[in-house]
Amino acid sequence: MDNNTDYLVVVNKDNLIDESYYNNVELVDCIDVFNKPTKLEKETYKAFLALRAFLKTKGINIELDSCYRSIEKQQQIMDEFIAKYGLEYAKEKVAPVRSSEHHTGLAIDLAVLESDLTYLNSDDLYIHEPIFREMHKYLSQFGFILRYPKDKENITGYKYEPWHIRYVGIEPAEYMYENDLTLEEYVLINKKTK
Ligand code: DAL
Ligand code: ZN
Repeated sequence: MDNNTDYLVVVNKDNLIDESYYNNVELVDCIDVFNKPTKLEKETYKAFLALRAFLKTKGINIELDSCYRSIEKQQQIMDEFIAKYGLEYAKEKVAPVRSSEHHTGLAIDLAVLESDLTYLNSDDLYIHEPIFREMHKYLSQFGFILRYPKDKENITGYKYEPWHIRYVGIEPAEYMYENDLTLEEYVLINKKTK
């Protein structure tokens, strides 16, 4: 199959996932940190495996937490958050259905493993900021960006999420990293120069 996947697709609160996106995406099976089956876009999974192997040499152990989510799954997560924490908090933390980039298969919530402990994407993770900061330095070499960086909340619509990475391909990732750009900014610049 020719790979016509749109690795620069923007899915956010203003750009809902278009069903036609799935015509050009190959999702592959993978296993998450809980040993449960999940899915990722094919190249994204390959890049994750390379990133994981590289980080291991730096003493950082990562695994997959949340990956591809169907529309139904995102709805379920939203409903659970609302029931547990209330609507305001849920809206801050969970993307409304169809506006989550987890629908693309290009986004990964990472789990960080440290000796016997597993740190998942909860508020606890913020205390492991040094591990994340170290990891963020290497993402672009593998085609990933930190999707919701600090101080860009007004552009991405989400608070800083050190665990949420997004595959875009090596060249765009390196450009965004070097120029401190979010995906929204990068796509806008590219459109202007076309
Ligand atoms: N936590 C991110 C924003 C999502 O639900 O897609
Ligand atoms: Zn995420």
